[in-house]
Amino acid sequence: MKLLITGGAGFIGSHVVRRMVKAYGQYSIVNLDALTYAGNLANLADVQDEPNYRFVKGDITDKAFIRQLFLDEQFDGVIHLAAESHVDRSISGPDAFIQTNVVGTANLLNAAVESWKGNMEGKRFYHVSTDEVFGSLGETGMFSETTAYDPRSPYSASKAASDHLVRAYHHTYGLPVIISNCSNNYGSHHFPEKLIPLIINNIKNKRPLPVYGKGENIRDWLWVEDHARAIDVIFHRGCSGETYCIGGNNEWKNIDVVKLLCKLMDDKLGRSAGESEQLITYVTDRPGHDARYAIDATKLKNELGWEPTQPFETLLSQTIDWYLANETWLDQVTSGNYRNYYEQQYNR
Ligand code: NAD
Ligand code: TYD
Repeated sequence: MKLLITGGAGFIGSHVVRRMVKAYGQYSIVNLDALTYAGNLANLADVQDEPNYRFVKGDITDKAFIRQLFLDEQFDGVIHLAAESHVDRSISGPDAFIQTNVVGTANLLNAAVESWKGNMEGKRFYHVSTDEVFGSLGETGMFSETTAYDPRSPYSASKAASDHLVRAYHHTYGLPVIISNCSNNYGSHHFPEKLIPLIINNIKNKRPLPVYGKGENIRDWLWVEDHARAIDVIFHRGCSGETYCIGGNNEWKNIDVVKLLCKLMDDKLGRSAGESEQLITYVTDRPGHDARYAIDATKLKNELGWEPTQPFETLLSQTIDWYLANETWLDQVTSGNYRNYYEQQYNR
């Protein structure tokens, strides 16, 4: 198996690469990543010298480069994670999302069709997507594989467009594709522009904890290593042409997640009870902020036997421990451009 993983230097991608490199010694695994602000080879320091692993720096929006890479390498499988992934950045600058998420995905699909033409047997193109393509839920109901698409941010619209292209290439060209739509992830190596690592970093540094609106929006949190395990299972045992929803069965209001992080970190840092909660600051809401996401992952459980690890508090506590133990990583990713981003996003 010659396997291409795109976006492997990012948050989820690095967990997928690590899992695959360790579990499948007989595979030849290429990690293709442009190393944008969100990509960091330090995320993969523990596997970088493994004989079944190779890193290639490259941009999926570069059509000629992608085409040549597929012709040279003759991949058997693709797990595509490379994307612009942060909703707030998609609001201030949608173009990069359209380029990477839509055009970049189309380049990979075209290259796969060309390279596998006449022999699709045993090949697999796995597209990693998000539950945000389904839009926003009210107080009840859950997203499943049959939910109609209704994306509402430039990020989710660009991911929806890429999902549609992937399905269209299956129907039109017979490309053996699989899509999964997953809920919000948390865990180690998460870039601190997203809620959980941002709040951990700010509690650590006694900085204000920005909560959008009233903090009542709900997300279904899944441990990133559970997502990587689901991707492994689906890549190897999922059916071609199918979609699988992946979720944590773990809905939390944002404000409750922030308060739980404060409580856990006050304990760990020897601060008095309630000290970090004082840092909570309600800020202007995100435009078009989706109210609630929740996934019904019954299909994945029934067909492939996957279930999330519980409980959330234990895994969140382990996650905090990782950030506290990896200060150098946190300092490195929050230096330089991060400061400019933070200033523009939060001090408007
Ligand atoms: P991330 O932002 O942490 O990482 C994205 C990676 O893609 C980075 O390493 C970056 O360098 C790379 N990249 C970006 N543009 C590129 C380009 N043009 N060419 C090559 N590489 C490029 O993202 P993440 O949170 O790890 O998400 C990975 C995938 O999972 C995305 O497709 C995202 O839509 C999806 N997803 C994320 C979540 C979540 O909670 N984070 C949930 C569901 C699905
Ligand atoms: P985020 O981690 O950006 O993921 P997504 O928007 O893809 O779900 O945000 C999770 C939730 O937390 C979302 O409802 C927005 C909210 N949020 C804040 O309240 N403050 C913040 O500083 C950030 C980054 C997010």
